[in-house]
Amino acid sequence: MSSSPSERGEWSSKTGFILAAAGSAIGLGNIWRFPYTAGENGGAAFLFLYLLCILFIGLPVMIAELSIGRHTRKDPVGAFDAIRPGSAWRLVGFIGVFTGLCILAYYCVIAGVTVGYIAKTLSGNTTSFTDYTASPMVTIPLLLLFIVITVLVVQGGVRNGIERWAKILMPVLFVLMIVLIIRSVTLEGASRGLSFYLKPDFSKITGKTFLAALGQAFFSLSLGMGAMITYGSYLSKRDNIVTSGILVSFFDTLIAVMAGLIIFPALFFAGKNPDAGPGLVFEVLPVIFAKLPGGALIGASFFLLLSVAALTSTISLLEVVTAYLVDEKHILRRKAVWIVAAIAFIFGLPSAMSMGAVEWLGELPLVGMSFFGFMDWLFGNVMLAVGAVFISIFFGWIWKRAKSTAEIEQGCPNYGAWAPVILFLLRFFCPIAIAIVLFFKFRELIAG
Ligand code: PFF
Repeated sequence: MSSSPSERGEWSSKTGFILAAAGSAIGLGNIWRFPYTAGENGGAAFLFLYLLCILFIGLPVMIAELSIGRHTRKDPVGAFDAIRPGSAWRLVGFIGVFTGLCILAYYCVIAGVTVGYIAKTLSGNTTSFTDYTASPMVTIPLLLLFIVITVLVVQGGVRNGIERWAKILMPVLFVLMIVLIIRSVTLEGASRGLSFYLKPDFSKITGKTFLAALGQAFFSLSLGMGAMITYGSYLSKRDNIVTSGILVSFFDTLIAVMAGLIIFPALFFAGKNPDAGPGLVFEVLPVIFAKLPGGALIGASFFLLLSVAALTSTISLLEVVTAYLVDEKHILRRKAVWIVAAIAFIFGLPSAMSMGAVEWLGELPLVGMSFFGFMDWLFGNVMLAVGAVFISIFFGWIWKRAKSTAEIEQGCPNYGAWAPVILFLLRFFCPIAIAIVLFFKFRELIAG
């Protein structure tokens, strides 16, 4: 027996939902992953493609996920099953849940490092990112700490846990980022960073840039694995799915763009390389903190708030897997969260040891990336795109048009006028565009 909607809980208010969904979307993806991915892929040209991917692919998929979730009031597996009972579509939900578990595992590694940076910055420890993460005595306890904190919040349930935290702390992060932008763009030589980031050189666009931009769009918006199906399942029928989706995407994109405005001017000021990879933000931010009065304190507060942003994302990852165990396997919520946490910790160990602690994990045979990099590539990129193809097809072709339109019209009475556009994007544009990108991804993999 599945729980009834009232037992599942609902967001207490519209703003509560938007902040929680924005909390899921805004995280390390915006502030840690976006700048180094943009840096590796030509800066402004990448930013341009990224914005296109958000608008034409991310936003429609977000609307699809939220409406499937609210209509069925189920976890991702149950949601597909409710609309197409007994079909293989539930497998798509299942793959999403598994992807969530794997992302949770490696995401908590870097989130743990962020927590470690609070203390590191406060104590004035200047060890480099590479040396810092090479120690398993640092990365493993921090991984464990972050998973345990996530569990404690999720145990509180939808309203008390997720919503309360998101409401208070996201706005604080926003204000601190504005301060950091002002400091960064007024550094000497900032204009070179700004032009790298904002003046596109379209000759830099290659197939790889496209892959990176699309993958980053899904990762950043928390799409392709059912997180927004799960969050949509707690939405009330009065809420407007379209404007909620637009607002969440807007805030998410805004924070990523702002992170770029902090990082790139400072990076050029410090004479560092934009394609430094995953350590980029951790190496560049201290440069800005050092230029501010009370820099250690500001730096520590920033890493604290970044940890909270990461937490509102890990909460949503844990919530997807937990909702599956609660709804489909009828495991008590309290027990389910600890089961998921234990598996995520075990799955996270090789990633935690792949940043310098164990040599072969740092450079996996055959794939030529670190274990951490491989997890991010496979689950944070490829599997989200695969999930998004199926979600688009499901919404566009399997779910009856009249039903999806009726669902979205509740709370958004003029959706009818937009329905043809959204349907066109989800039926044709999204699946074809994502499939082409995936095809090139695999060709690239096979080639080398
Ligand atoms: N969107 C999060 C970020 O940008 O940090 C990461 C994430 C959370 C991805 C939840 C996927 C997900 F379901």
